[in-house]
Amino acid sequence: MKFDVEKIRNDFPVLHRKVYDKPFVYLDNAATTQKPVQVIEEIERVYKTINSNIHRGVHHLSDLCTGEYENAREKVASFINANHSHEVIFTSGTTGSVNLVAFSFGESFVGEGDEIIVSAMEHHSNIVPWQMLCERKNAVLKVIPINGDGELIMEEYEKLIGPKTRLVAVVHVSNAIGTRNPVERIIEIAHKQDVPVLVDGAQSVQHEKIDVQKIDADFFAFSGHKIYGPTGTGVLYGKEKWLDRMVPWQGGGEMISNVTFQKTTYNKLPFKFEAGTPNYTGAIAMAAALDYVGKTGLENIAGYEKELTEYAVSKLMQIDGLRLIGTPRKRTSVISFMIENIHPYDAGMVIDKMGVAVRTGSHCAEPVMDFFGVRGTIRASLVFYNTKREIDTLYDAVIKVKEMFN
Ligand code: ALA
Repeated sequence: MKFDVEKIRNDFPVLHRKVYDKPFVYLDNAATTQKPVQVIEEIERVYKTINSNIHRGVHHLSDLCTGEYENAREKVASFINANHSHEVIFTSGTTGSVNLVAFSFGESFVGEGDEIIVSAMEHHSNIVPWQMLCERKNAVLKVIPINGDGELIMEEYEKLIGPKTRLVAVVHVSNAIGTRNPVERIIEIAHKQDVPVLVDGAQSVQHEKIDVQKIDADFFAFSGHKIYGPTGTGVLYGKEKWLDRMVPWQGGGEMISNVTFQKTTYNKLPFKFEAGTPNYTGAIAMAAALDYVGKTGLENIAGYEKELTEYAVSKLMQIDGLRLIGTPRKRTSVISFMIENIHPYDAGMVIDKMGVAVRTGSHCAEPVMDFFGVRGTIRASLVFYNTKREIDTLYDAVIKVKEMFN
């Protein structure tokens, strides 16, 4: 399929609005992606035609809605190549998925003195749940260090992993600096010691084809809203062999098999982990987003985004005083930078006035900022609907920042 960016842009209504009477340039896709009409209309279709609580009614609409929700689960399973659809748990997002594992795996498998390994480039959502677990259990959090380019130091990782390690939780692609980590190798090393690995795929699933069986991840978490789906949707993939042995993390309707005041027994997978009425509309619309991505083709998307990122990096590097934060050999389309010593918030305000949305600050990854000795960065994150023309506007905005502050 020929990649036609203008045709794709036509599917995303918000890209055609103006900001301060200027064309809107959206380069904050790592925070959330915009939604195509196919997703927006799917939400409307569910509410207009089939809305009913799922798994609970015998009536026609409940049956239809349940069918579509379970069909969405099948689609997710096929999108990431899970072995079984019951290994796909719907959550509220990556944060929800990581917290689920930190609680349920933690309750089932982590004790005093045990160790959990994370990396120095994690988002807070893949640090804090593990710290909370370590506090509860008197366990120890170990951290894989990074080098000056913003890459994991793999030799140090190999030294950290040992008989007390219970789990490794690592980000696939850094939201703060764009590094694409060698999760395949990380998993291989962990598995030699029978240690399971959770991969935070919040910033990878929209950029490359994920095959959870091929990379052999034990857990893989991602958010629907970062892959063109609705907010409040997400996925936890987990291998049956782990999920089956983990206690539930929330109690309520649907996650039970039988309830008496003496004893409750739990439902089978995946329902054991989906207490309460799930966001079924969101899950169905997220499946529409995955269909959209599948139809466009992740290979086409990745090829286009690579070209765009190379263009953006080389264009920005022409600017005197612009410093990239993170220069990894393998990166995705997240580009973090500083302009001289101008505070990122000040720069962000000027860039915004040019109609360009970038994120400024620590990107919920304060340890990464500490490592690079900065309080924050300016971050442009690109996806398949962005254009070279938009990069040129960002370039002009950065020049304007320099003019204003010098
Ligand atoms: N985690 C999101 C980001 O990096 C919100 O911007």
